[in-house]
Amino acid sequence: MSPSDRLRSTVVVTGASRGFGAAIAAALVGRGHRVVGVARTAEALAQVHRELGSAFIPVVADATAAVTARTLIEQYQPKVLVLNAGAMPGIGPVHEQTWESFSRNWQVDTQHVFHWIQAALRQPLPPGSLVVAMSSGAAVGGSPLSGGYSGAKAMIRFLAGYAADESSRAELGIGFVSVLPQLTPATELGAAGVAAYAGRRGVDAATFAAAFAPLLTPARVGSEIAQLCQDAGGQDEHRVYQLSGHGLHALA
Ligand SMILES: NC(=O)c1ccc[n+]([C@@H]2O[C@H](COP(=O)([O-])OP(=O)(O)OC[C@H]3O[C@@H](n4cnc5c(N)ncnc54)[C@H](OP(=O)(O)O)[C@@H]3O)[C@@H](O)[C@H]2O)c1
Repeated sequence: MSPSDRLRSTVVVTGASRGFGAAIAAALVGRGHRVVGVARTAEALAQVHRELGSAFIPVVADATAAVTARTLIEQYQPKVLVLNAGAMPGIGPVHEQTWESFSRNWQVDTQHVFHWIQAALRQPLPPGSLVVAMSSGAAVGGSPLSGGYSGAKAMIRFLAGYAADESSRAELGIGFVSVLPQLTPATELGAAGVAAYAGRRGVDAATFAAAFAPLLTPARVGSEIAQLCQDAGGQDEHRVYQLSGHGLHALA
């Protein structure tokens, strides 16, 4: 399957009820794809459905369950998976975390990528397919006020690399991309992080976020991921990109 064959194909987007995921779904629908959007909150998914129309198929499900991945890949035969779902990190310094809050993003973000990547390799997705895994800039720089978030996101990048190796060994022709977005106050999750780090520096959120200008917006995330879905993949390769308000930047 060539990049042009992925045009108008079916894409599964996890965490599609708000934030980056909803914007990614909108950009993909805008380019003619059918999008299966997965999240747990029915009303938020229904709102995205009202906005995007029948090309957006809302699926209320827990993306961390292995059965969700297996069933949806079997049912919709997607050519692209965008593994974007993520939990709000436990905000606070390490000595104020519980193990439960510290490990939250491992239980949600990492576990869901683990199950979906396994399903992609086992079923498997057809040759030329693409899996996009949402990591974070924190996977490189750390996130001292977000518990185990940065480690969970670093593991997601490793997982995508391991999966690309297995795809290559089995000659499956599935491409894997890890995307590391910069912190942005433009979503609920990002705003909580910006507020915490601003508070630690003793400045307001706007002053702290100004250091990241131009700020990454959900719309920019959507358009960049939609472009990736069109261009990348099919080579059993693992590509890694940082994503900021300037756009995608490939890491070696
Ligand atoms: N915003 C940033 O600054 C930033 C920076 C770097 C990386 N990221 C990453 O980008 C991704 C999206 O972040 P965001 O800022 O858009 O977050 P967000 O606004 O909080 O959205 C998170 C999405 O994940 C879904 N979700 C959470 N747990 C789920 C589960 N168990 N099953 C299915 N869906 C689930 C949520 O829907 P329900 O609650 O309805 O299930 C929601 O749609 C996350 O992986 C995040 O770590 C964000």
